[in-house]
Amino acid sequence: MNHDPQRHRLHTTTTIAATLIAIAAGLPLSPAVAAPPNSYAPVVAREDFQTTMTRMKADKARVMKKQANLLAERYDLDDHSAGNHKMSMGKKIQSGVRVKLQPGMTWTKLANMTPAEIRSSGLFPKGFLPLPHPNHPEGGMVFPQYHIDEIKKQEARDLTRFDLDYDLPTHFLPDYPPAIYLTTRPDLGDVSQGKVVTIDNYYELFNGILNPKQIEGMRLLVTPFPQQQFNQTSDRRSERPHRGVTCFDCHVNGHTNAATHLVGDIRPQEFRHGLDTPPLRGVYIQRLFGSQRALKTVEDFTEFEQRAAYFDGDHVIAAKKGVNVLERGSQVHFMAEMESILDFPPAPKLDIFGKLIPSLATESEMRGQAVFFGKGRCSECHPAPFYTDNLMHNLKTERFFKPHMIHGRMASADGPIKTFPLRGIKDSPPYLHDRRLLTLEDTVEFFNLVTGVNLNTQERSDLVAFLLAL
Ligand code: HEC
Ligand code: HEC
Repeated sequence: MNHDPQRHRLHTTTTIAATLIAIAAGLPLSPAVAAPPNSYAPVVAREDFQTTMTRMKADKARVMKKQANLLAERYDLDDHSAGNHKMSMGKKIQSGVRVKLQPGMTWTKLANMTPAEIRSSGLFPKGFLPLPHPNHPEGGMVFPQYHIDEIKKQEARDLTRFDLDYDLPTHFLPDYPPAIYLTTRPDLGDVSQGKVVTIDNYYELFNGILNPKQIEGMRLLVTPFPQQQFNQTSDRRSERPHRGVTCFDCHVNGHTNAATHLVGDIRPQEFRHGLDTPPLRGVYIQRLFGSQRALKTVEDFTEFEQRAAYFDGDHVIAAKKGVNVLERGSQVHFMAEMESILDFPPAPKLDIFGKLIPSLATESEMRGQAVFFGKGRCSECHPAPFYTDNLMHNLKTERFFKPHMIHGRMASADGPIKTFPLRGIKDSPPYLHDRRLLTLEDTVEFFNLVTGVNLNTQERSDLVAFLLAL
């Protein structure tokens, strides 16, 4: 929610009111009265819908250009992949470190400096800093264009925002449509039939494969419900009044399309983290949900996603825009049951302990595994077989840089973040909770620096080979 224009207008109104009171009271005119800090979105729109839309549409090109410049400054955005590495449905995996270094710097040199030296010399790579939302002061759900096109085609529901487009190039995003694997029917392999599951086709796709509760759970996962930007009030970001969004608009086919959003839990706006949609595959082995919220069950996350996260953690505005309150026993339970049978993709090189089968693995993968469980210390937070400890860790990246504002996002301490599982990790770029890293090579450089394990070039490239096999 962008409160800036409103805040500005509120501020102006307050100033005018203060001025009138001052005049009436015969007092000297005071300088501008600052608006007090505020956690709430305005319930009453201070401008009519057409005016808002015209103003924001006119500003869209500038906003998108600003974000494109930020991305180009941080990352090598070219489309290149090495070797034959593919995601489960065959999309090529982007390779190479994409985070740019300052001129004259190398990754090895950087890893040999102390956090204090990097901080004082300003050498922390910009791509390792928190990534702002495509328009951070505004925020809200933003979907990749191909998903918008597909939903328009299937359901005649238009997820276009008049003020914003998705920012990252398509080659950095997951398979589309992604495969669906069920823990209950591993014999079937991918059950998506190459389709994007929607309200239009879920029944014919799943009748006979799922039980009736799961089918009903699936129906609710693909049914649109009102949300902050997509609703029927004049405070929306869709041209026409809107039925809302579905869970699978972001967690497409129970996986992810890397749709982005702002975390609902933090105020003020500049401290809210940008978000990457995590896959729902494998939620059944997880014990904490949300990168920072640490909700304890899939049921809780399912219920509160729609009641609170859809509305930026603001229950007041949710009531106005038409929050859908799910019934715990007959709806939340069914949805959560459906989510909990979504499996990780197959990893044919792993044994039942989640370790490489030597006869199937390459030498580089085997060496990478040894680094992962040894010198690299990755397994201390990412233990086999699913490669998560189901805890949160504070990586304290703020050791490496001074707090500063990046396009409306205050880059400072991230605090504790959930350890995401690494099983199937090749299928879910971009990486980290706010999409700040684009390739697995980037993640290895990030953890090499942040943990201080000082791996050599060979060890780092072997580690990438291992991650691709998980
Ligand atoms: C913007 C598109 C979007 C939509 C729509 C959406 N989610 Fe999410 N979902 C996310 C993001 C982003 C997160 C991570 C939130 C965080 O880190 O705090 C998330 C997290 C989750 C998680 C926790 C996963 C984990 O690994 O911690 C579950 C479970 C979940 N969503 C279920 C749902 C359900 C059920 C719905 C529909 C009611 C839904 N989501 C709708 C984007 C979305
Ligand atoms: C101290 C605990 C810790 C250690 C050690 C650690 N990680 Fe992580 N890892 C995390 C946390 C926490 C996150 C989530 C961070 C975020 O999203 O901001 C994460 C995220 C990741 C991700 C991205 C996951 C995703 O879904 O986006 C990859 C890949 C990864 N780690 C690989 C590694 C590798 C390789 C090593 C060893 C060199 C390593 N990690 C060492 C805690 C750790």
